[in-house]
Amino acid sequence: MTHIPFVVAENAQEIAQTVAAEIAALIRERNAEGRSTVLGLATGNTPILLYRELVRLHREEGLDFSRVITFNLDEYYPMQPDSSQSYHYFMHHHLFDHVNVPASQIHIPDGSLPREAIADFCAAYEQKIQQAGGLDFQLLGIGENGHIGFNEPGSARDSRTRLVRLDATTRRNAAGDFGGEDLVPREAISMGVATILEARRIVLIATGSKKATIMQKVLHSAASSDIPATFLQLHENATIYVDTAAHASLV
Ligand code: F6R
Repeated sequence: MTHIPFVVAENAQEIAQTVAAEIAALIRERNAEGRSTVLGLATGNTPILLYRELVRLHREEGLDFSRVITFNLDEYYPMQPDSSQSYHYFMHHHLFDHVNVPASQIHIPDGSLPREAIADFCAAYEQKIQQAGGLDFQLLGIGENGHIGFNEPGSARDSRTRLVRLDATTRRNAAGDFGGEDLVPREAISMGVATILEARRIVLIATGSKKATIMQKVLHSAASSDIPATFLQLHENATIYVDTAAHASLV
């Protein structure tokens, strides 16, 4: 079992500032070289403060997103992009509407495709990441079941962008957003574990006491499909940031 470097911070805001500063430094360095920055982005509660800080850096400190290319991890299936429950909506609301990433450089899995078009879409998504030069930085949250993206327990190390079935835990946790567990989509399109592990840098953020139990398991279990986040042990440049609440039961 390899050790994944992890940093314990006082609170979620401190993590947001640290990680936003790292992303901003990367974007500035790339901009100075006239190169693009390819970001893999996550949705959910965890990155909201981080996106708020990136928006602040854009507004107050002139952080220029014009060369940034983004690829989101996942989207529910089926899901219309203009639905308020979609990850399209989430990303525009929390980040894209407030910074200058050109629309043509934003990529989010399309939950509105007919089922028969999904496989080709997923292959093209992988290709676009490659054509952009690969992911420079991948941001991750973690599910209470150890999922990264929507790579639920059982997801293979070599999995790629694909249609996945959502775990019961994931659907239960999303029930509030959909007005009941029965209304949560049963499937999603998600980047795979292999797609994520190819990023040159990975940062996983876990905040709040609900993540304490899974974080203990992630840090003390060998890499396996049972807890997909353990696959980060196989990456040479991954860091986990936890706040004191998510760290509470770590030994
Ligand atoms: C979201 C995603 C998920 C979330 C995870 C944690 O794009 O890929 O893996 O990061 O479910 O969600 P929150 O942050 O809401 O606890």
